[in-house]
Amino acid sequence: MSSEPRKILVTSALPYANGPLHMGHMVEYLQTDIWVRFQKLRGHKCTYVCASDSHGTPIMIKARALGITPEELTQRFSEEFVRDFADFGVEFDNYHTTHSPENEALTVEMFEALRERGDIYTKTIEQAYDEKEGMFLPDRFVRGTCPFCETPDQYGDACENCSKTYTPADLIDPISVISGTTPVRRESEHYFFKLSDYADRLKTWMDGAKLDRNVAAKLNEWFESGLIDWDISRDAPYFGFRIPGTEDKYFYVWLDAPVGYPASFRNLCERRDDLDFDEYWRPGHDTEVFHFIGKDIMYFHTLFWPAVLAGSGFRTPTSVFAHGFLTVDGQKMSKARGTFIKARTYLDNLDPNYLRYYYAAKLGPTIEDIDLNLDDFIARVNSDLVGKLVNIASRCAGFIGKRFGGQLADELPEPALFERVRGASEKIAEHYEKREYSKAMRLIMSLADEANRYIDEQKPWVMIKDESQIDTVQRVCTQGINLFRSLMIYLTPVIPEVAGRTRDFLGVDMWRWEDAQTPMLGVTVNKFKPLLTRVEKDKVEKMVEESKESLAGAADVAADDEYISIDDFMNVDLRIARIAKAEPVEGADKLVALTLDIGELGERQVFAGIKAAYALDELVDRKVVVVANLAPRKMRFGVSEGMVLAAGPGGEDIFLLSPDDGAEPGMRVK
Ligand code: 2FM
Ligand code: ZN
Repeated sequence: MSSEPRKILVTSALPYANGPLHMGHMVEYLQTDIWVRFQKLRGHKCTYVCASDSHGTPIMIKARALGITPEELTQRFSEEFVRDFADFGVEFDNYHTTHSPENEALTVEMFEALRERGDIYTKTIEQAYDEKEGMFLPDRFVRGTCPFCETPDQYGDACENCSKTYTPADLIDPISVISGTTPVRRESEHYFFKLSDYADRLKTWMDGAKLDRNVAAKLNEWFESGLIDWDISRDAPYFGFRIPGTEDKYFYVWLDAPVGYPASFRNLCERRDDLDFDEYWRPGHDTEVFHFIGKDIMYFHTLFWPAVLAGSGFRTPTSVFAHGFLTVDGQKMSKARGTFIKARTYLDNLDPNYLRYYYAAKLGPTIEDIDLNLDDFIARVNSDLVGKLVNIASRCAGFIGKRFGGQLADELPEPALFERVRGASEKIAEHYEKREYSKAMRLIMSLADEANRYIDEQKPWVMIKDESQIDTVQRVCTQGINLFRSLMIYLTPVIPEVAGRTRDFLGVDMWRWEDAQTPMLGVTVNKFKPLLTRVEKDKVEKMVEESKESLAGAADVAADDEYISIDDFMNVDLRIARIAKAEPVEGADKLVALTLDIGELGERQVFAGIKAAYALDELVDRKVVVVANLAPRKMRFGVSEGMVLAAGPGGEDIFLLSPDDGAEPGMRVK
């Protein structure tokens, strides 16, 4: 290892503070945390910062729907994130928010610097506008029928059925998802960043950044198709930072989001005398900056972000590390299958060390997706961590404790075996450094196999019965414990809690990577307590069950599960209906058959459990509210094609919701 410690700043992508963290998010935070812990263990000065991504239209709309401010919404999620991260052992040096004074000051500084050098210009563009809400609509907030394959209810940017991309103006029958009205086209002046001028500088940056092959290939594709100037402004109403000198223009969330990295670092510098902002963020210093991200946001981090930094007097990142997506049991995470597992649901059921190890055992440096196969997860963790690793210690520690008062022998009986573990140190370190975690885990586990084989051959449990061999038992167990200790040092970045428990057993406060080079001999260790228990299948099943339950009917759950998302709400098509006919249902005590006139949607038959509360003739011509897009249900008496809304516990105490005069059949209910 080189003698001078490196000065490294590391970031993970900033999570949007409008939905809970899930297993997919955790791939990135665990991958980064392992790398950071590794660097620290090697003695480098490594600083890890993150923040909540708190701006943008979705956050503004969600807050509005919940009747709270965006500040409150993002604060609530940020608090939840901080707890989830801490419980997973993700140890940031600072966790901040992009809605901060540091971020505003830096964003404005960068913008002004770019403007000064002529890299910002304005241009009038046309966009979808919701006249009812008085706002421009991002593409994702317009839905309609795909112009290519005519699949209904598609987003304004791409079709989920045929994958073609287009603009909201191309949609057939576009609808604003906020108000349900038809958007119009409206012009507005926007600010653009001349990304097209940066191709050469970006290519130079890319050559020095040692990007993963696939990331570089993607960048080359973008260079070949030509860089397009970037629209960095949005019109009010918007939750973000106002552009200086304007009344109603805001910086687009993706401009200030990555600025959240230096902003979080600056916030940390205020508390830490040993960190200097300029040393890490201005050019010409011997420091390194690495961004860990998902492959979906490469464009922002390998084009926009380095260009903005280069143009505004900041240093560019040393490199950007992208990872792939997570699948669970080979498929996209699914709420129906219970594989859309929230970080908290995992933590409620399972030890975080399991997942940290499992992800490490799967992760490499490429953008390939990784799969969390739940059966393999159980098998791998139980076999590697419990069956191989912890087993070394538990087979030796008992004898040392009971027969030798915790005292380790003064020498190793098999130095060559210890030497093999010691000799693997630099190879394992190289794997960590290159984010080849799966290779590191394989190598460590093969050494654990050797250690177990050694104990199998020596059979201390047999020797212990023969008083003349008692010293050998102490030496053999000392050998085992030292092999275990060195392997545990190598695994500290991955399973830090288990490493901590191991240190408690060995009676040491801390250790460094190079401590694995020297055995602990002749000292007294503490009583051995179990370090890690097996993964229980029923806990995994319970977690999956809870993921089904907690998400049923609430796709994008808020901080405390008390809310449904605006998307869920918008998916319910509530309409005014007139009861055209009300008829008895033969053989049913509680039901009446209603024929509803829903204006433009035509007539529907709905069965309603209101027989005890209303006489049939009282119902005819009454206006009610109906869920018009409920999937038709086959009942014993026929098909029910919707649901009429009513309040009350049932029986005679049920009250149909009756709209005031003026509400006409077919009208949408807002
Ligand atoms: O894609 C996302 O989830 C973004 N919130 C990531 C932002 S990373 C950085 F640029 F802030
Ligand atoms: Zn289509």
